[in-house]
Amino acid sequence: MVNYIEASSAPLRNTGDIRLYGEEAFEGMRKAGQLTARALDGVAELIKPGTKTQEIDDFIRDFGEENGALPATLNYRGYKKYTCTSINHVVCHGIPNDKPLKEGDIVNVDVTYILDGWYGDSSRMYPVGQIKRAAERLLDVTYKSLMIGIDASKPGNTTGDIGAAIQEYAESERCGVVRDFCGHGVGQLFHDAPNILHYGTRGEGVELKPGMIFTIEPMINLGKPHVKVLHDGWTAVTRDRSLSAQFEHSIGITEDGCEIFTLSPKGYDKPPYILGND
Ligand code: MF3
Ligand code: CO
Ligand code: CO
Repeated sequence: MVNYIEASSAPLRNTGDIRLYGEEAFEGMRKAGQLTARALDGVAELIKPGTKTQEIDDFIRDFGEENGALPATLNYRGYKKYTCTSINHVVCHGIPNDKPLKEGDIVNVDVTYILDGWYGDSSRMYPVGQIKRAAERLLDVTYKSLMIGIDASKPGNTTGDIGAAIQEYAESERCGVVRDFCGHGVGQLFHDAPNILHYGTRGEGVELKPGMIFTIEPMINLGKPHVKVLHDGWTAVTRDRSLSAQFEHSIGITEDGCEIFTLSPKGYDKPPYILGND
């Protein structure tokens, strides 16, 4: 049913076929992914009580400009910012603005740089000052959900194995797994086949093969999984207003597992971020 196609001979649009990329693509993804990761490292230094999410957006614009990269979100389906900044009960696609962050907030910053045609898509959670224990626990569970999904990402497994592993773990921690948004093929397109659901059934979905490049980006709620989108057409929030968190990496399937393109060079993959040790 599902068709795999050699990326170099495929049209540059989402046809539903799954691209299999070669070594050159992995090299391109390493560079794009590392640029995104370095930017997210910079964000860690920026975030404190009083920082405006617009300042984060400005930083991502400037860092991209300095490094010859364009943020993929700008003008994407009418979106007008360089990042998404999603605070507390905002699940994803929060729009940067001039409201200052407050002590105790948790904020996701999601960045996708396009470098030499390759899309490096990643997001992390940032605590603002001291956060509550429940929030800390949610960040732990969400980061672990991402890494459990990455552990399941190897040839022979299916996309359903990734989703099932994440869902079983997150629900065992009494958290809700958001169904309305998913990971996606990435590489030379922003959002490509296949969809990577963060819930599901082992053995279902599509088989993972070396050369596939996609994101995993679980959104995990302290409460129920249900979300609604606000009237701005973008901001997705939890219906029960419970806290929500998300981490995202771009990865490539290798012969015996996967490679993470968006790892932090400073080790700032998960909070707490111990700043200034470079
Ligand atoms: N970066 C998001 C993702 O992980 C997509 C954001 S699209 C936007 O797929 F338009 F909301 F920015
Ligand atoms: Co993504
Ligand atoms: Co993203």
